[in-house]
Amino acid sequence: MITIKTESEIEKMRESGRLTKNVLELIEKSIRVGMTTKDLDKIAYDYIKSCGATPSFLNYCGYPASICASIDETVVHGIPSDEIVIRDGQIVSIDVGVEYNGYHGDAARTFTVGNVSEEKRKLVEVTKECFFKGIENLKDGTPLGDIGFAVQSHAEANGYSVVRALVGHGIGTKMHEDPQVPNYGRKGTGIRLKKGMAIAIEPMINAGVYQVDFMPDGWTVKTRDRKPSAHYENTVVIGEDGVEILTL
Ligand code: CO
Repeated sequence: MITIKTESEIEKMRESGRLTKNVLELIEKSIRVGMTTKDLDKIAYDYIKSCGATPSFLNYCGYPASICASIDETVVHGIPSDEIVIRDGQIVSIDVGVEYNGYHGDAARTFTVGNVSEEKRKLVEVTKECFFKGIENLKDGTPLGDIGFAVQSHAEANGYSVVRALVGHGIGTKMHEDPQVPNYGRKGTGIRLKKGMAIAIEPMINAGVYQVDFMPDGWTVKTRDRKPSAHYENTVVIGEDGVEILTL
């Protein structure tokens, strides 16, 4: 079931969105070579708790942390660990969700650490661009497939591929609501998005093949060819003439 948010619900989602954005800005300022992904998780957890909010990911289907930290060939859902040390030249995707006043925000960024190769830097840039292509013409009445079409077109025009095994999603009182929001698709297909729908749009873009492998830990997703992957996500609300980004 797809829910339409009232203005007072959207106001609450603005607050959870703002806290979600704050976590990512804090991590961006803190991330350094030599830190562990567990260090980043603690920064996120402590900040979220200090706001009187709840980390949406913690204990979600048994997930053991407040963020996902996914380095290089890890696409998403990397579990923070005190054994994973961030090294020079890596790209680190941080995904975080915050629940506040009963509503969730969900967002991700891919950070470059130290001296990153031109190839990886471009992948990170294009992945962010894919999100903005996805929302470019998005407004009340837009077919859902237009988002995926725009994301996929931009990724493939740059020689990259779009992960299909994982998708974006509706969001609100639950972190994952209907509809699913694929990063691939055909223009003019799917349901029409309506004013007041809230969705998380999250392109996961691979430098090589689109296929991924699910690791035995039950969470970590890696590219099948172990080439790098980037992730960029924001929670948005559909409006009459465009979208409002709640996590930027
Ligand atoms: Co999400």
